[in-house]
Amino acid sequence: MADFVGAVDQGTTSTRFMIFDHGGNEVARHQLEHEQILPQAGWVEHNPIEIAERTTSVIRTAMQKANLQATDLAALGITNQRETTVVWDRRTGRPYYNAIVWQDTRTDRIASALDRDGRGDVIRRKAGLPPATYFSGGKIQWILDNVDGVRAAAERGDAIFGNTDSWLLWHMTGGVDGGNHITDVTNASRTMLMNLETLDWDDELLGFFNIPRQMLPEIRPSSDPNTYGVARWPGPLGGEVPLTGDLGDQQAATVGQVCFNVGEAKNTYGTGNFMLLNTGTELVRSEHGLLTTVAYKFGDAAPVYALEGSIAVTGSAVQWLRDQLHVINDAAESETLAASVPDSGGVYFVPAFSGLFAPYWRSDARGAIVGLSRFNTAAHLARATLESICYQTRDVVEAMAQDSGVTLDVLKVDGGITVNNLCMQIQADVLGVKVSRPVVAETTALGAAYAAGLAVGFWKSTDELRDNWNESQRWSPEWSPEQREDGYGRWKKAVERTLDWVD
Ligand code: G3P
Repeated sequence: MADFVGAVDQGTTSTRFMIFDHGGNEVARHQLEHEQILPQAGWVEHNPIEIAERTTSVIRTAMQKANLQATDLAALGITNQRETTVVWDRRTGRPYYNAIVWQDTRTDRIASALDRDGRGDVIRRKAGLPPATYFSGGKIQWILDNVDGVRAAAERGDAIFGNTDSWLLWHMTGGVDGGNHITDVTNASRTMLMNLETLDWDDELLGFFNIPRQMLPEIRPSSDPNTYGVARWPGPLGGEVPLTGDLGDQQAATVGQVCFNVGEAKNTYGTGNFMLLNTGTELVRSEHGLLTTVAYKFGDAAPVYALEGSIAVTGSAVQWLRDQLHVINDAAESETLAASVPDSGGVYFVPAFSGLFAPYWRSDARGAIVGLSRFNTAAHLARATLESICYQTRDVVEAMAQDSGVTLDVLKVDGGITVNNLCMQIQADVLGVKVSRPVVAETTALGAAYAAGLAVGFWKSTDELRDNWNESQRWSPEWSPEQREDGYGRWKKAVERTLDWVD
C-alpha cells in the first residue's frame, strides 16, 4: 500500500514538488525558481520549456530526498498559477510563444473594448469575471492575432491552449506521444470562456475572443477518480502514478485550508494575495468587485463556488524592494527593517504595478508612494509595503462582507509572507479580526494532494482532512478603533491618487 501522495505546485516564481503522508504532514519537498521575462513595461512572460524542465527536476530531487519510489505514491496532484497562458504545437511540443503571465497587461485594449460594447456584461454574467487583462481569454486572442501561423494551426487542431496545469499534464501523460489535453473546472473558470452554470466552454464567449473551440482542453473535475492519465515520466518518478487532482493554486489552498463549509474563507499571501470565501453550491454574483469562481468539484458531486478577492501585488512588492530598489537583501529583512520604526511615518505605498485588481479593477492605475517628507527613511517604506499588503486585504474583506453578509471572526492565512510576524500583526490590526496560520503553511500543495488522494480513497472524506488541520500561530488586533479607521481612511485617499494614470 502506498503511504504518500505527491503534488506539483507550479507557481508564478517557482515550481515545487511536495510529498505528504496520511496526516497531511510534509515528508519532503524541492523547489526551483524560473526566470521572470520582462520584455517591456507591463509585459511578463515565462519560458514553458524551462517550467517543464524545472518540474521534472523538483520531482526527481524530492523523491530522492525522501528515498521513495513511484510505488510509494498513491496518487499525484497538480496545482498551478492560474490564467497564465501557453499555446503549443501538439505534434512537436514546441510552444508558439512564451507563456503570457497573469500579471501581464498587454491585453488592456482587448479588455477595455469588451466593456465598451456590452460584451463585458455577458462575461460577468456567464463567466463571473469582470473583463480584465488578468484572465486567459485575451491572452489567447493576443497570441492568435500576433504570432505568425498560430491561428491557422489552431484551426487545424495543432495549436492547443492550456494554463500551466494543462501544459504539465500533457507532458506527464505522454506529450507528443499522445499526451492528454485536460484541465479542471477551477482553472477553466479563470479564462472568461467557461460558463459557470454549465461548466463547459461557451460558444458566445469563445466568439468574443475569436478562439477556435478545438484548441481548448477537456474540462474535468478537480478531483477525478477516472484519472487525467498516468504520470509516466520514467525519469523523475521511475514508474507510473495516477494523476487524479488538478486545481488552480488559490482553489487548492482553499482545499488545503479545509474551507469546506459555506462562509469559510482563506487568504493566501504569495506574489499577490487571493482570498476565497466558500459560497457552497450557490453561485453568488458580486456587486462589489469580487470574482465568482469555482472553488472545487470533487468527482460527480456538485461544484462548490467561491467569491474571490484577487490582489495582484503583495509579495512581489517586497521583491521589488529587494530587486529594484535594493533597500533590503532578502524578504526576511523587510520585517527587521520595518520593525525598526514604530509606524510608517505617514507614508502610504499603493503597489498598483499591474493596475489595481479587486475590488477596483482599474487597469489605468499605477503605483504611488504618498505622504513623503524629509523625515522618511527606507524603514518607513518597508513598513508601508507591509501595510499595503494588509490594507489591500482589508479592501477585499470589506467587499466580501458587503457581497455575502459574512463577517469574519478569524482570518485563516497561508503562504510565504505569513512567516513575517510583523506583517501578520499589522494584518490583525488593520482588519480588527484575529489572524490564524496552520501548522502546514504550504496549503496550496497540500490541497492538490488532498484532491488527488480523495479520488483514489487515500483519504476517505473531507472530515478526515479537517482533522488534519491544526493551528500553529494566532495574532490578535492591538490597534484602537480610531487608529484603525484613521489608517484605512488615509489608505483610501492614497488609492485615489493611483487612478487615471494610464490613458
Ligand atoms: O491568479 C494568479 C495566482 O494563481 C498566482 O498565484 O501563488 O503563483 O502568485 P501565485
